Amino acid sequence: MSTTETAPTAAGSGASATEAFRASSGGRAPGQVDHERVSTVVGAVLKGIHQAIRDEEVTYPEFQAAKEYLIEVGEGGEWPLLLDVLVEHVVEEVAARTQTCTKGSILGPYYLPDQARLDTPATLPQRPDEQGTPLVLSGEVRSTDGTPLARAELDMWQADEQGYYSGFAPHLPDGNLRGVVVTDDQGRFEISTIQPAPYQIPTDGPTGGLLEAAGWHPWRPAHLHLMVRAPGHRTVTTQLYFDGGEWLDSDVASATKPELVLKPADRGDGTFTVRYDFTLDPA
Ligand code: DHB
Ligand code: FE
Repeated sequence: MSTTETAPTAAGSGASATEAFRASSGGRAPGQVDHERVSTVVGAVLKGIHQAIRDEEVTYPEFQAAKEYLIEVGEGGEWPLLLDVLVEHVVEEVAARTQTCTKGSILGPYYLPDQARLDTPATLPQRPDEQGTPLVLSGEVRSTDGTPLARAELDMWQADEQGYYSGFAPHLPDGNLRGVVVTDDQGRFEISTIQPAPYQIPTDGPTGGLLEAAGWHPWRPAHLHLMVRAPGHRTVTTQLYFDGGEWLDSDVASATKPELVLKPADRGDGTFTVRYDFTLDPA
């Protein structure tokens, strides 16, 4: 990853991620608190924390350091980053228990709604001099019974060749490498883009600080994010990775699955192509 003057800071990414999360999550309806559920889940979380303190004989200085750290995460606006990288994969694992569709993966902190709607074949919006190996991803969207899903939406977002996401890095134009691609009458799609670089958790903020303190590397393997939607079907949120890619076996966010690894091939002119079909569960 290059470090230029325009490189996004952890504080910038964190604040933007917090803002984006608040905008997309909507408000919670008042009076809808399920006290029993809160008691059960929060009780279980606390039990886990209490047990870790006993098992590891956590000291007062360590407890105070933890408080200081959690305050910093909030002040840095990094709660979405921290939770998505360390916790979300297990929430996804539980959600996947009721799915038979294409394997899902974590949403992560960098989804932005309402991007350009593009009919297939589509090219994701990009700078005229966008760097990176050209990639064409094509395939079909089908219901789990095999019915092709016409006018399904593939809402896609990805990092650029330096590992940065538009909307979270000030030097990138809004909407860069983001778009909602609509399938044709036979549920087919073809999307031209570039291969993203691996993504590094910002190292200058509290999330990166924790990884460094623990001696864990801050990398995610290169990935494409997709949210696939069709009327009458459950939306699939997933990610696609690249065979042989660095960090594939040690993703800091633990969000890879063997079924989600692409093996693009050079079609002869330096453009890589790959096919991937999606299936959606009926709602
Ligand atoms: C994070 C960033 C990502 O791009 C992603 O896919 C998942 C998590 C993060 O910084 O937490
Ligand atoms: Fe990502």
